Amino acid sequence: MSVRSNQKLKLTFLGHAAVLLEGSKTLLIDPFFTNNPQAVFGIEKLPKIDFVLPTHDHFDHLGDAVEIAKRHQATIIAIHEITQLPSVLESKVKTVGMNIGGTYHADGINISMTPAVHSSTAGSPCGFVVEFNGKRIYHAGDTALFSDMGLIPKLFGKLDIALLPIGGHYVMDPKQAAMAAKLLKPKLAIPIHYNTWPVIQADPKEFSRLSRPIKTQVLSPSEFITL
Ligand code: NI
Ligand code: MN
Repeated sequence: MSVRSNQKLKLTFLGHAAVLLEGSKTLLIDPFFTNNPQAVFGIEKLPKIDFVLPTHDHFDHLGDAVEIAKRHQATIIAIHEITQLPSVLESKVKTVGMNIGGTYHADGINISMTPAVHSSTAGSPCGFVVEFNGKRIYHAGDTALFSDMGLIPKLFGKLDIALLPIGGHYVMDPKQAAMAAKLLKPKLAIPIHYNTWPVIQADPKEFSRLSRPIKTQVLSPSEFITL
């Protein structure tokens, strides 16, 4: 399905792996606010959210997904097993359970689930390719480096943005994330999931240097770009 629009898309980094996408609809990926040392505001300050996209059920990704979905009557789009967690079922929030390889089409938005090499309790961890407002954004979730990342732009088309974890220990480090950037060849790569805690200390400048000639931009929590 092609996605065309002249409307601008606003991407805001909210600390750790949390990313807000505001266009024709508002999407929130990995909504970790409560106890997130990088969170600059709490969930009460969020704009109206339509879709919440947790990449997996680790606390720093599933985060406040249920509470936000409840407040905003938003839909949680996640791997099937997350939608079946007792905490999610009991909350009665709207959910769309899907799986890796699938694409959910809603209101002119394509949300595709991509693999991630990581662990989780409920189902498999994933990444997302989100297409709307004429832009294509890839959020890798928590993952190690894998060569099939190179298939993502071949399958979906040129990526405008790739959001890549660089903190090491649980995910890619700057060297691996730079190699991922070279496989993905986005117009712009943005580092995420680093310096939240000492165990994931990483230098985003090292990521930027190693990623050349891929363009990178380091966003501070609450900083945004307009596409
Ligand atoms: Ni994780
Ligand atoms: Mn994580």
